[in-house]
Amino acid sequence: MTVLLPRDKNASRNIKPEKSLSGLTSADVNLNKPRDINQPSILSSDKKINDKVKKVFIKTYGCQMNVYDSERMVDVLSPIGYAAVETPENADLVILNTCHIREKAAEKVYSELGRIRQLKKKVNPEMKVAVAGCVAQAEGSEIKRRAPVVDMVLGPQTYHKLPEMIAKVHRNSGEVLETDFDTLEKFDNLPESRQVKGFSSFLTIQEGCDKFCTFCVVPYTRGAEVSRPVGQIINEARNLASQGVREITLIGQNVDAYSIMGPNSKQWGLGELISHVALIGGIDRLRFTTSHPRDMDDDLISILGKEPKLMPYLHLPIQAGSDKVLKAMNRGHTYEEYKTLIVKIRKSRPDIALSGDFIVGFPGETESDFQQTMKCVEEIGYASSFSFKYSVRPGTPGASLPQQVSEDVKSDRLKRLQDLLYSQQLAFNESLVGRTLNVLIENVGREENQLFGRSPYLQGTHFNGPADLIGQIRPVLITKAGRNSLSGELMQK
Ligand code: SAH
Ligand code: SF4
Ligand code: F3S
Repeated sequence: MTVLLPRDKNASRNIKPEKSLSGLTSADVNLNKPRDINQPSILSSDKKINDKVKKVFIKTYGCQMNVYDSERMVDVLSPIGYAAVETPENADLVILNTCHIREKAAEKVYSELGRIRQLKKKVNPEMKVAVAGCVAQAEGSEIKRRAPVVDMVLGPQTYHKLPEMIAKVHRNSGEVLETDFDTLEKFDNLPESRQVKGFSSFLTIQEGCDKFCTFCVVPYTRGAEVSRPVGQIINEARNLASQGVREITLIGQNVDAYSIMGPNSKQWGLGELISHVALIGGIDRLRFTTSHPRDMDDDLISILGKEPKLMPYLHLPIQAGSDKVLKAMNRGHTYEEYKTLIVKIRKSRPDIALSGDFIVGFPGETESDFQQTMKCVEEIGYASSFSFKYSVRPGTPGASLPQQVSEDVKSDRLKRLQDLLYSQQLAFNESLVGRTLNVLIENVGREENQLFGRSPYLQGTHFNGPADLIGQIRPVLITKAGRNSLSGELMQK
């Protein structure tokens, strides 16, 4: 049984003022796709693997924050001789970086642990196994009880301690369980150097959540909202630029709640931070995610319209269109307030493409409430979206609400909602045919002579061209659009 530990709602925003913006730090990884949090991902490193190098296999579930964390785990492990490998068979260490957001996400971890147990028994008895991330935080020592193959359990704010934990496992000295919540201590102790692959990278600037939506585990698994000091972020961004990264996505569970005493002794929000990251040479594109409607302030909205490096794409979840459901979810705003916000955002940045998250079948949601969600989608218009059936999370307030909605009704509503959202997504992509868009070229495509990149609106874009253009931003005339991608022709600069 999952137990979500109660959290002190006031234990947030441990803000440190800081002085210097100078100095180089490190760099990160390649995050060049919008994240489908239902699909796990695997990391690999360029480090030459020989007998002396220890191998770590990391499988990442969940959101962008976990992707960033997995890359940083490699940075933490690299100085003690580890390199990331793509398969678990011969790994010295297997880490599952887990997600607890929906029941299915959490259950996947246990089936994967079953496979790892077999592998350890049959192929590699010396293998050590760690469960990191949000399931680790939520379930703690319960994981070892259900899956004795696990050697270490570590929450999202503790992975800077991995070397200590590994040493403890090898000494066989007791239970290795770390579930502290000291986010700033983690960032202060991460290695400055990051191993970057590719041209687009995530950079965590904020972690945690104080919103306590009644359906959601994140406030319990990630802890309180904490913002990273400006200097650390600027250093990391500079270092990314020095390694060839052209696009940075600033990430946080509530990225627009970013708030910290800046180097000029004034309080900085996300808008101010973006204007400074945008000054870094070599960084040509900026994005940020995920924003909460309650935290989109006027400064950020105005920067959206003014900063040319900011891409015209905004992920702003609403979850549901009915005020009754929004209230039961504890979202802290009404549909009208969201709509007014969107009008303001579109006034500031008329070409913005909107994306959202939706939940159907929250307890008490009637057909007429659901119709409000459909109306919201029709009125707002989304270029992309993520939509889910409500999943009961034990320990959250939503789990004990009466009037849970049946699985059949949830499936039916999800289907109708997705039909609408997907038709909007296709229509948006089709509206781009005939336009020339700047594409950040990230890789070769599947076909011969084909390149793959991302448009300003984040769609994957395919076109023919020479591989030496990888890493460049080039104009592409869009000639064809599907729901999930675009294709086109490379134009002269
Ligand atoms: N901080 C972001 C969301 C992070 S979680 C925000 O507030 O918008 C990503 C998405 O997962 C959420 O937006 C929500 O749509 C979905 N989600 C979270 N908990 C869920 C649950 N119990 N059941 C179904 N979907 C859920
Ligand atoms: Fe979860 Fe709500 Fe926090 Fe988003 S704002 S992470 S949905 S509690
Ligand atoms: Fe999942 Fe944790 Fe992210 S629950 S969505 S990995 S914050």
